[in-house]
Amino acid sequence: MHANKNSRAHGKRSCMKKLISMGRGGSGKTTFVALMTKYFIEKGETPLLLIDVDPDQNLGEMVGIDLKEMGKKTISELLTETFKEEGGTTVGVPPSERIESKIWEVGLYEGASFDLIAVGTKFIEGCYCLPDAALKKALENLTKTYRYVLIDSPAGLEHLNRRISTQVDDIFDIIDPSQKAFNHVERAYKVAKEVKIHFKNFYVIAGNRVPRELEAEVEKRIEQKYLGKIAYDKNVENYVLSGKSLLELSSSSPAYNSVRELMKKAVH
Ligand SMILES: Nc1ncnc2c1ncn2[C@@H]1O[C@H](COP(=O)(O)OP(=O)(O)OP(=O)(O)O)[C@@H](O)[C@H]1O
Ligand SMILES: [Mg+2]
Repeated sequence: MHANKNSRAHGKRSCMKKLISMGRGGSGKTTFVALMTKYFIEKGETPLLLIDVDPDQNLGEMVGIDLKEMGKKTISELLTETFKEEGGTTVGVPPSERIESKIWEVGLYEGASFDLIAVGTKFIEGCYCLPDAALKKALENLTKTYRYVLIDSPAGLEHLNRRISTQVDDIFDIIDPSQKAFNHVERAYKVAKEVKIHFKNFYVIAGNRVPRELEAEVEKRIEQKYLGKIAYDKNVENYVLSGKSLLELSSSSPAYNSVRELMKKAVH
């Protein structure tokens, strides 16, 4: 657990980078995170921590991990246990440490090249301040030992208000072919600034359903940096349908190849 994980760090603390996907429903956020995972594994840029912030929790499935089957609990479940059921019984141990040790023990899936945690459905009712602050501190500690932390967001922007993470390196906003997608980009950028999430880069990516001939239009319409497009790939569809891990896609997969190019452009 803890000690073992810390020993992985090899003093690489300051190298950790946090990347987060965003976008409207079904634009391809989770697929993109799974393909980034594949990219970093193949590049040897490990260990990775994957954080699934979507209550629907499908990142695990896309990388071949069933957290529930492995007896792992979501962060929401652990927060409920820690703050609601136990109350203030663990005198002397700060809440952030309590939640952190629970995440290490029963929240975190640990694999050879990546670990995974899920935030889960619902946080405890009432005042969010204590759990949010504790969780933020716990996550800050937890994420230190990884090379990359890859965060998959739910659709919409509400999750930004929770500010589970206030320092990120890159935001990747994936757009679909719709008017609303352009509004999403502007709003996402604004909201992230408003809630004081510090990010170094805000990249826009065209999802697989955006026609190639619209790419120039995308570039013209947005103020943020356009990185390129994720190619359509029938195999991605098939793998997702049959619950097969996207990490097993062939390295000639068009979707994977486009993500590889996008990551290189973003200098990773
Ligand atoms: N590059 C691709 N080529 C072909 N199909 C794709 C590709 N990327 C995603 N898909 C299809 O689109 C569906 C939605 O993708 P994904 O789950 O990644 O979107 P999402 O933005 O995470 O959705 P949600 O908003 O529901 O979380 C997938 O189930 C898959 O079938
Ligand atoms: Mg998703």
